[in-house]
Amino acid sequence: MTQVTFLLNGAPVAVYSANPTHTLLDYLRDTAGLKGTKEGCNEGDCGACSVMVTDAQGSRALNACILFLPQLHGKAVRTVEGLTGPDGQAHPVQTAMIAHHGSQCGFCTPGFVMSMATAHLNGDRDHDTTLAGNLCRCTGYAPIIRAAQAVEDQPVPAWLQKDASFILGQISSGDPKGADGPLGAGGGGEASSPPVLGTDSVFRPDNSDALADWYLANPEATLIAGATDVGLWVTKQMRTLGKVAFLNGVQDLQHIEFQGPLVHIGAGVTVESLRKAMLPLHPSFAAMLQRYGSTQVRNAATIGGNIANGSPIGDGPPALIALGATLHLRRGDEMRTMPLEAFFLDYRKQDRRAGEFVAGISLPAQAPALRCYKISKRFDQDISALCGCFNVTVHDGHVAAARIAFGGMAGIPKRAAHVEAALIGQPWDMATLAAARAAFAQDFRPLSDMRASADYRLLTAQNLLTRYFHDLAGQPVLVQQVRA
Ligand SMILES: Cc1cc2nc3c(=O)[nH]c(=O)nc-3n(C[C@H](O)[C@H](O)[C@H](O)COP(=O)(O)OP(=O)(O)OC[C@H]3O[C@@H](n4cnc5c(N)ncnc54)[C@H](O)[C@@H]3O)c2cc1C
Ligand code: FES
Ligand code: FES
Repeated sequence: MTQVTFLLNGAPVAVYSANPTHTLLDYLRDTAGLKGTKEGCNEGDCGACSVMVTDAQGSRALNACILFLPQLHGKAVRTVEGLTGPDGQAHPVQTAMIAHHGSQCGFCTPGFVMSMATAHLNGDRDHDTTLAGNLCRCTGYAPIIRAAQAVEDQPVPAWLQKDASFILGQISSGDPKGADGPLGAGGGGEASSPPVLGTDSVFRPDNSDALADWYLANPEATLIAGATDVGLWVTKQMRTLGKVAFLNGVQDLQHIEFQGPLVHIGAGVTVESLRKAMLPLHPSFAAMLQRYGSTQVRNAATIGGNIANGSPIGDGPPALIALGATLHLRRGDEMRTMPLEAFFLDYRKQDRRAGEFVAGISLPAQAPALRCYKISKRFDQDISALCGCFNVTVHDGHVAAARIAFGGMAGIPKRAAHVEAALIGQPWDMATLAAARAAFAQDFRPLSDMRASADYRLLTAQNLLTRYFHDLAGQPVLVQQVRA
């Protein structure tokens, strides 16, 4: 039995569950009776289930459908029911949605207002980005974005600011400073018991030494970081996971540290935090990460999970391989490092031993020639058909070094070794590019699937090399973005 304690709409709750993969969405709707949070896709795609989650790092919008209750231990959750003030006053974004006609059928609306209220709280005015993970089929985005713009300068309601002031010890004692009510138990159990999260089958370590010991002793367990992949194993594949360890409390896997020419990034760093860190270092990588899932997905997903799942269409690995990233693995007390590309052996087969986990990556802090191109059917919130990342060093008009990596072109994220060989030592010109284009077929035999045909993938990969050439020359290469 796992006990999870958190603040729900200002009141502390303790939830006892035998199922560590009980989702927040199911808990809210089926146990807490809070049906304002909607289920649309149940796989992180539509944002109808968006909630606001606050912890020491701040407040962020997350999808409740792929968020397991133990991930919330010690945090504060706000649903649409908790967005209004104690006397029923509407939040400014709710008032603005009415004034700007931002809702028709209303199914998407609770998710929208939770994303908007979180962005408002954080002072984030890039509404196209913060709302890219909220889908609306009736109203259309222009009125919704007008509503978001209308409240930009309005103050954050006082009742929402309280969530940041609680601490876990106060919640679990039933007397939380800043919380609105007494400790209540959801799903039965002793409300006054201290929080217990270290049972035989559920482990929530707060440091990587504890994780390493436990995982070595329980190598059959499933590690859960952001659950943006694992969540779907549960909600779509109906899998029961057995032993699990939740990594989101492991503080020493969440570092972003600079050391000389390198930056070290812990496996538990979210894709959104990585995006922000990459903005000044590798802006093209950061721009690509802005199209990784949605704000809610990036707020949950970790770079360690993105690497460890070994997906051939993951967006992180091609960029990191092109950068020359080093992967750090840990098993018990033993650490291993390898070039990231060596980790991916075959389709969904990685060089990871039983009881070994991804600890982090190191990458150069500077790579001015890095460019990342994500090709997908839809601009926002879509999985790549292919993703090409280029890092070519040109000296005196000749190619001195080249690292080129692709996702979506093979069963693994893969370097274009023949293309690189066709470039190195050659003049950096169109004739060399023409010769290098032919080498793509030696490196890749892509598949046809619902995202793209094999022919499309191969031709597009070749064209991306040409695009890169023009991009490095400072010519405009961005597709026109559709804006509200
Ligand atoms: C709606 C949606 C949109 C998405 N869009 C994109 C996208 O645009 N681009 C993209 O690349 N991906 C996308 N994804 C996929 C997903 O976000 C990524 O693969 C993500 O990075 C996984 O990270 P996580 O922390 O959520 O991993 P989890 O789901 O927690 O775990 C994934 C796998 O990694 C393992 N794992 C996690 N951490 C570690 C560790 N430290 N050591 C060893 N094993 C570990 C888990 O056991 C599991 O096998 C999307 C997913 C969703 C639901
Ligand atoms: S229900 Fe669609 S993102 Fe959760
Ligand atoms: S108002 Fe109907 S889906 Fe948005």
